[in-house]
Amino acid sequence: MAAAIGIIGGSGLYEIDGFEKSEERQVETPFGNPSDVLVGGMLAGREVWFLPRHGRGHRILPHEIRHQANLWALRSLGVRFLICVTAVGSLKEAYHPRHVVLPDQFFDRTSRREHHTFFGGGIVGHVSFAEPVSAGMRGILREAAVAEGGVVHDGGTYVNMDGPAFSTRAESEANRQLGFDVIGMTNLPEAKLAREAEIAMATLAMITDFDCWKVEEEPVTAEAVIAHLHANVALAKRIIAAAIPAIPAEAEWPEHRALDGAIMTPREFWPEE
Ligand code: ADE
Repeated sequence: MAAAIGIIGGSGLYEIDGFEKSEERQVETPFGNPSDVLVGGMLAGREVWFLPRHGRGHRILPHEIRHQANLWALRSLGVRFLICVTAVGSLKEAYHPRHVVLPDQFFDRTSRREHHTFFGGGIVGHVSFAEPVSAGMRGILREAAVAEGGVVHDGGTYVNMDGPAFSTRAESEANRQLGFDVIGMTNLPEAKLAREAEIAMATLAMITDFDCWKVEEEPVTAEAVIAHLHANVALAKRIIAAAIPAIPAEAEWPEHRALDGAIMTPREFWPEE
């Protein structure tokens, strides 16, 4: 059977349209409950599972998200390909609200990293993370985003801060000087856990704001950010619909064998499918 596809929705994206025969699944995991029930069904002939990382109705702050439970639940439903949709702030002059960024690198400014791994408690695992994003999935998202008329920046570094408060201006300037492209509060742990779960993951980072560095800009209003968010969500849904038919049926990419090359004791972690 074809591998399932996962979609993690971010701010504003709490459901996916067009499922045939959709069902809700409450999944229990060794790491507690995921952010919400997972909604699954057939989309373009593929099994797809959707999970809103902040919960429906946006109830969960970035530092409250149980990323381990979310990724565990997706993997336990057979997900081997994953699209993460996430709202980000721009750190670059040329990256505007409503543009799409497909990050290929992450920089970790989080502080609760013990929650960003499945390993520990007697199981030691170190996966390779030099290339944290699936090139195959990123390519599929690029084609779909261009086809849907998005302004696309292919590649870039996503710096993950803790939040929930946004950056100070000094932090924003420092992030710019370090050459980072976009900033968010949630996606890096998902990328790490997806790699450990041998899931091929790529991110649709959708810009809502210029963070706080662009002092010559009019101050950002909540209305403007919400309007950008809604436009981004509509585009993200079209990109996802265009991407799904291009995702391979078989989980045969290097990311699907990430633990083969990892330093592991004991050797076997995920059960044979
Ligand atoms: N998500 C959306 N905009 C953001 C910003 N400016 N900083 C951190 N996370 C964000």
